[in-house]
Amino acid sequence: MTTVLITGANRGLGLEFTRQYQADGADVIACCRHPAEADSLKPLGVRVMELDVGDPASIAALAGTLKDVAIDILVSNAGIWGPQAQDAATCDPDAVMETLRINAVAPFRLAQTFKPNLKTGHDKKLAVLTSKMGSISDSSGGEIAYRASKAALNMIMHAVAKDWAREGILVGLFHPGWVRTDMGGPSAPLDAKTSVTGLRARIAELSPQTSGRFLDYTGMEIRW
Ligand SMILES: NC(=O)c1ccc[n+]([C@@H]2O[C@H](COP(=O)([O-])OP(=O)(O)OC[C@H]3O[C@@H](n4cnc5c(N)ncnc54)[C@H](OP(=O)(O)O)[C@@H]3O)[C@@H](O)[C@H]2O)c1
Repeated sequence: MTTVLITGANRGLGLEFTRQYQADGADVIACCRHPAEADSLKPLGVRVMELDVGDPASIAALAGTLKDVAIDILVSNAGIWGPQAQDAATCDPDAVMETLRINAVAPFRLAQTFKPNLKTGHDKKLAVLTSKMGSISDSSGGEIAYRASKAALNMIMHAVAKDWAREGILVGLFHPGWVRTDMGGPSAPLDAKTSVTGLRARIAELSPQTSGRFLDYTGMEIRW
């Protein structure tokens, strides 16, 4: 049985990942900040575990609980949009720092901490939810905190993919498309089911050739 750990599993894309992997027969470890309030996860019958990715003690506590548990696929999905105002004139630098901390540094800490679990898994796959908005070549400006956090995440995970290649651990950097979730908003063209169906196919075909590359949910390459 495939064991999949998902962060930010209580809503949005994380919840859809949880639904689809569970329906596929995987053993899903669905992580969220407040398990007692995760009403959407309760009916699914998955293991729900507490994890605030921004809190190193929370990451360490989960790692302690899951010591010696092999993880086949880790879906690093939790993320934030950042502050309301994100243009050059009004964006609060401290809010930029907080967005970087959650979207770029926390996934790195998570990757480092759970590497032993991935190493003992069959698939050895880390799937990271990034965004096309982290592409510098594609940027029209604005959204400074979010864009910077995803660009930083891209660089970190590209380097992690290179470093881990010799140990056979694969790292996928995936843009889910613009999706109707709390973050994506109601005008987004894609539903979570379509996006996650595509993302799961990309994770399934993740290989040494695609590890460290920046792809969207359809498999199309995105320019850095
Ligand atoms: N939707 C889109 O169009 C889109 C496009 C490109 C990339 N993405 C990326 O895809 C991922 C999922 O996005 P989404 O649309 O599903 O967002 P969402 O609907 O806003 O959900 C975000 C999830 O992340 C969790 N989270 C936030 N901070 C956390 C923390 N410190 N510790 C643990 N969990 C935390 C939230 O938990 P709480 O309920 O506790 O807040 C929630 O489960 C994100 O990385 C996002 O940047 C989304």
